[in-house]
Amino acid sequence: MAHVCRFPVPLSVAGRRWPMFLPAAAGSGGGSEKGKLLLQDVAELIGTGACRRVVVMAGAGISTPSGIPDFRSPGSGLYSNLQQYSLPYPEAIFELTFFCHNPKPFFALAKELRPGNCRPNVIHYFIRLLHDKGLLLRLYTQNIDGLERVSAAGIPASKLVEAHGSFASATCTVCQRSWPGEDIWAEVKEGRVPLCPVCTGVVKPDIVFFGEPMPQRFFLHVVDFPMADLLLILGTSLEVEPFASLCEAVRHSVPRLLINREVVGPFAWRPRVQDVVVQGDVVEGVQRLVELLGWTEEMQDLIQREAGKASF
Ligand code: APR
Ligand code: ZN
Repeated sequence: MAHVCRFPVPLSVAGRRWPMFLPAAAGSGGGSEKGKLLLQDVAELIGTGACRRVVVMAGAGISTPSGIPDFRSPGSGLYSNLQQYSLPYPEAIFELTFFCHNPKPFFALAKELRPGNCRPNVIHYFIRLLHDKGLLLRLYTQNIDGLERVSAAGIPASKLVEAHGSFASATCTVCQRSWPGEDIWAEVKEGRVPLCPVCTGVVKPDIVFFGEPMPQRFFLHVVDFPMADLLLILGTSLEVEPFASLCEAVRHSVPRLLINREVVGPFAWRPRVQDVVVQGDVVEGVQRLVELLGWTEEMQDLIQREAGKASF
């Protein structure tokens, strides 16, 4: 079971209406004893409607339960398994200069990353439940596997920001013509580099490579994060900017919940009083939260209803 929280709960919240924000003293940081939260307090904030504008930040850790490796887990992460591509260093596979020099490694990896048959998992369905209950302000994902957008997960495009792009569309690196993702997929599956039918330039899926501009929708964060009244951060190392810094963009009085195998980013080196860390398996942590919310049955019904629908 996940090691729940780092902060003991000094406050009993049962039965009393939680103020929208913790008393100023608690919100001022500096580690005052009062105002430290536990997972059950986060459940209380959601359950009582004290928090209704939830922003979720997700990383590759929410897709590992669906069988898609993450990037940096030692041994199992993608970056530990790229020897066959003789890259100068692992991240080169997502760098434009290397891609223009040799696109083959990226397309070979793309076959693994754009799963045809992987399905959303309980984490995707939890986020869907937040949406169904009118609580999800936005989901910011770093993942390019597209599991959040699969109809079975049912998270509408309006609520989704794919910060590092996706395979849904592709662009010719020469004439910049845009193509639907599935148009190039047959070539990729055959192990060929897809070429533009107009100018024969290499067509690259609209995945954001290191150094490339972020998609327009990413800048919704300018409005979303100041408005958020709860931030959930699930399955990410918080290593890659500018995505990682978003977690500091919510107001100091807003609780932040990290569910991850390690304590990462500012949760490790500059925690806030209202931070809650559930360190351990992300599925277990989310299931514990669902239990505390009393949503277990609803979640099971949703999974039963939707699981058969998974399709790209
Ligand atoms: N339970 C809990 N934590 C998990 C689980 C799990 N089942 N699986 C993985 N994790 C954790 C890992 O321990 C790690 O801390 O999720 C985190 C995943 O981190 P990364 O592999 O670095 O993935 P991510 O944070 O999404 O990477 C960000 O880096 O290379 C770029 O563009 C790429 O979007 C990617 C970005
Ligand atoms: Zn072209």
